[in-house]
Amino acid sequence: MTKKTKIGVLVSGSGTNLQSIIDNIEKGLLDADIRVIISSNPDAYALKRAKRRNIPAKIIEHEDFKKREEFDREMIDILRSYSVELVVMAGFMRILSPFFLKAFPMRIVNIHPALLPSFSGLHGQQKAFRYGVKFSGCTVHFVDEGVDTGPIIIQAVVHVRDDDTEETLAARILKEEHRIYSQAIQLYAEGKLEVVGRRVRIKGHKQIGESPLHNPPLTKF
Ligand code: GRF
Repeated sequence: MTKKTKIGVLVSGSGTNLQSIIDNIEKGLLDADIRVIISSNPDAYALKRAKRRNIPAKIIEHEDFKKREEFDREMIDILRSYSVELVVMAGFMRILSPFFLKAFPMRIVNIHPALLPSFSGLHGQQKAFRYGVKFSGCTVHFVDEGVDTGPIIIQAVVHVRDDDTEETLAARILKEEHRIYSQAIQLYAEGKLEVVGRRVRIKGHKQIGESPLHNPPLTKF
């Protein structure tokens, strides 16, 4: 069995990604231990999810700290006091300072609801839908100094249907987020992620998925 990776989850909102991680740990699918949750929002529903499972949760509000670095220093202290090895951002509505990134080099991951580098920033699902793409999806990546710019670990592709609305598309993307976030954390736990420049190689992973996707499907060509 793989050693359990100690994770700290940063949240600000509903916490469905947090919930999927909790569920996959409980099902024995994910070798991780959620040591602590930090929320930047005292009203985040994610806090209720943590409480239900007796996971320690801390609230750090921006207003409490004059500078971003002071906010981040407080988070670092909490994460270190819980011996966190991997920081998992799950709907955390703040940008981390370079100071924080230095404290956890290549040990911070994030999930984004679009196929990066397209539609980075807020409301990725909505921006992709309005742009009219035929495929969208989600991306798990390591976090660097930019916004949604770090090395990509996993992406899942979702077809955009003619009868989709922003909501139906976002719901299908979210379902895939819940899968690939746990998958990425498990690959990390197994020591299978190798970062070479911008590329993340998965050790021992056989090449799959040779056939291109088409939307609409190819007919006679
Ligand atoms: C997700 O769509 C995630 O991709 C984005 O923020 C949202 C968080 O949702 N970064 P939840 O709080 O996990 O439900």
